[in-house]
Amino acid sequence: MESVNVSIIYYSSTGTVHSLTQAAAEGAEKAGATVRVRKVAESAPPEAIAANPEWGQHLEATADVEQASNDDLLWADAVMFGTPTRFGNVSSQLKAFLDTAGPLWFQGALADKVYSAFTSSSTTHGGQESTLLALGNTFYHWGGIIVPPGYTDPIQFQSGNPYGTSHVTGEGPPGEVALKAAEYQAQRVVTTARALKVGRSA
Ligand SMILES: Cc1cc2nc3c(=O)[nH]c(=O)nc-3n(C[C@H](O)[C@H](O)[C@H](O)COP(=O)(O)O)c2cc1C
Repeated sequence: MESVNVSIIYYSSTGTVHSLTQAAAEGAEKAGATVRVRKVAESAPPEAIAANPEWGQHLEATADVEQASNDDLLWADAVMFGTPTRFGNVSSQLKAFLDTAGPLWFQGALADKVYSAFTSSSTTHGGQESTLLALGNTFYHWGGIIVPPGYTDPIQFQSGNPYGTSHVTGEGPPGEVALKAAEYQAQRVVTTARALKVGRSA
């Protein structure tokens, strides 16, 4: 079976996107990929973090997760990105990481890879789709192959977002449906990346 490298690069303040990341990593591993899970740097001021105990607790709990670097983009055949919704948009922490990728983009090193994304918001119509579509703008610029889950598996009719796995935190932490959707999305990413790799080497 053709080897596939997947980087899952995420930002999470209070753990929701981190949970989806872990489910995606599990899905990618089950599909036979070698997986790197990487967080991006926290840039919020200490007083903002201190104002929300869950934020500080999550920072501490994930202190040992390696920080994302450009090598994680270069190494990967497929990259999944996770971000909480921030005013219907990508978090500034993840965006700051994307903005370090200019030199790789210039060399064409980000083209032809598979990209996919997932998110969370506190409310149902709080901007999950706009966040995923905004993140997609970067993939277009990179010449990426965007792999959304669509409605290609029964779990998608339960989770309900064809753009990427999404969770509403107002309903509690991600449950079985969201976690299964993240797993499925990652499996689809791996399968597509593998098919491309096999096809290109033929
Ligand atoms: C500055 C800021 C902006 C936010 N904007 C939105 C928003 O537009 N819509 C929404 O439903 N939730 C919004 N939220 C809530 C976050 O999306 C939610 O807390 C996040 O998805 C939780 O993910 P995490 O636990 O991985 O940090 C916002 C939160 C912050 C701090």
